[in-house]
Amino acid sequence: MSLDQYYLLGRSGLRVSRLALGTMNFGKDGFHAPYGRTEDEARPIFRRYVEAGGNFVDTADFYTAGASETILGRLVAEAGNRERLVLTSKFTNSVDPGDPNAGGNGRKHMIRAAEASLRRLGTDYLDLYLLHTWDRITPVEEVLRTFDDLTRAGKIRYAGLSDVPAWYAARAQTLAEAHSLVPMVNLQLPYSLAERTIETEHVPAGQALGLGVTAWSPLASGFLTGKYRNSGQGLTGEGRLTGEGGAGSEWTDRQWELLKTLETVADKLGVTMAQVALNWVATQPGIAAAIVGASSAGQLDSSLAALDFELPADLRAELDAASAVPPGKPYVMFTPQYQSWLVNPGTRTGDKPAGYHPVVRNWVPAQAQAVRR
Ligand SMILES: NC(=O)c1ccc[n+]([C@@H]2O[C@H](COP(=O)([O-])OP(=O)(O)OC[C@H]3O[C@@H](n4cnc5c(N)ncnc54)[C@H](OP(=O)(O)O)[C@@H]3O)[C@@H](O)[C@H]2O)c1
Repeated sequence: MSLDQYYLLGRSGLRVSRLALGTMNFGKDGFHAPYGRTEDEARPIFRRYVEAGGNFVDTADFYTAGASETILGRLVAEAGNRERLVLTSKFTNSVDPGDPNAGGNGRKHMIRAAEASLRRLGTDYLDLYLLHTWDRITPVEEVLRTFDDLTRAGKIRYAGLSDVPAWYAARAQTLAEAHSLVPMVNLQLPYSLAERTIETEHVPAGQALGLGVTAWSPLASGFLTGKYRNSGQGLTGEGRLTGEGGAGSEWTDRQWELLKTLETVADKLGVTMAQVALNWVATQPGIAAAIVGASSAGQLDSSLAALDFELPADLRAELDAASAVPPGKPYVMFTPQYQSWLVNPGTRTGDKPAGYHPVVRNWVPAQAQAVRR
């Protein structure tokens, strides 16, 4: 079973499963209520994940207005496996719209949010604490210092960032290194065959700076399972995207076309579209883990088998081609094609498997070899 293998998260000593469990739908309150699950419905999902060997669990104070953390805390206590888990939570979103300091990434809110998360989760420490979203206001130095203080106070073990610009992550990591503050080990970002924006800036930043990227919504909220159809006036089918919580989701013709390739690849391999989509995400360069969401233990079971097969190179290439978004300028200038044409003629560049830094191999043109001889 794929979850029995653990990988280091970014440049750290923390070992995590390659498929993390997302618990944004544990609970029936707040923003995520329309597709939330009760504690009794969440229990088999959580149990199935840990029985399979999974150790990486994701929540946030904002999910289901705190109910996700409360339910997760109770499920962990029931299972008696707190120490084994890498419990991750996040702060940023406001917990009181009437109080300007009850949200954002300032020191006052960060500490209050961390303490509230610990209370709801019924634990003394978080293994990984993430800034949920860039607030455009708080100086990065303030965030770093507070992460460092929380670490020294024993309230968190590791720190990271979610949904921030890549330049912000780079500045945070560089300052943390320069000032010997607790480093960022994780960047949590949206990534799937349907959403590859992070490849231009965030993934290379993560690879260069030791931040393991974890992919949220790896199934594009269920779109990539193939259970929806394009009626011409929007999507039809049963699931989160057609329910109250999914209203307003828009899908491009390119994304609908991609589903056809995904279906063909899944048929060739004899697996489901969701399994192919998850396998692709989790094995992309620089990706530490895919954060899987499930409405039932059955769905999770199927997702957990996503790493039990290998995606052959030719089928991966088909998926890459069908899902690629052509790079705009200046990113087109960083592609291997452009570089070997104008920047580094005579040098071939390529990638090692996932997680490695790009390798540059010196290539000596035939004429030069002749001269050397
Ligand atoms: N940092 C952030 O800003 C951020 C944002 C979003 C999420 N996250 C994290 O990422 C986690 C995962 O996000 P996500 O739930 O959007 O992930 P996802 O894997 O893209 O979508 C999961 C949803 O797809 C559907 N699904 C899954 N397996 C299926 C199957 N075999 N057949 C049919 N439908 C299936 C289910 O929804 P239905 O059955 O209801 O259709 C399920 O809840 C969250 O729990 C949270 O921890 C983080």
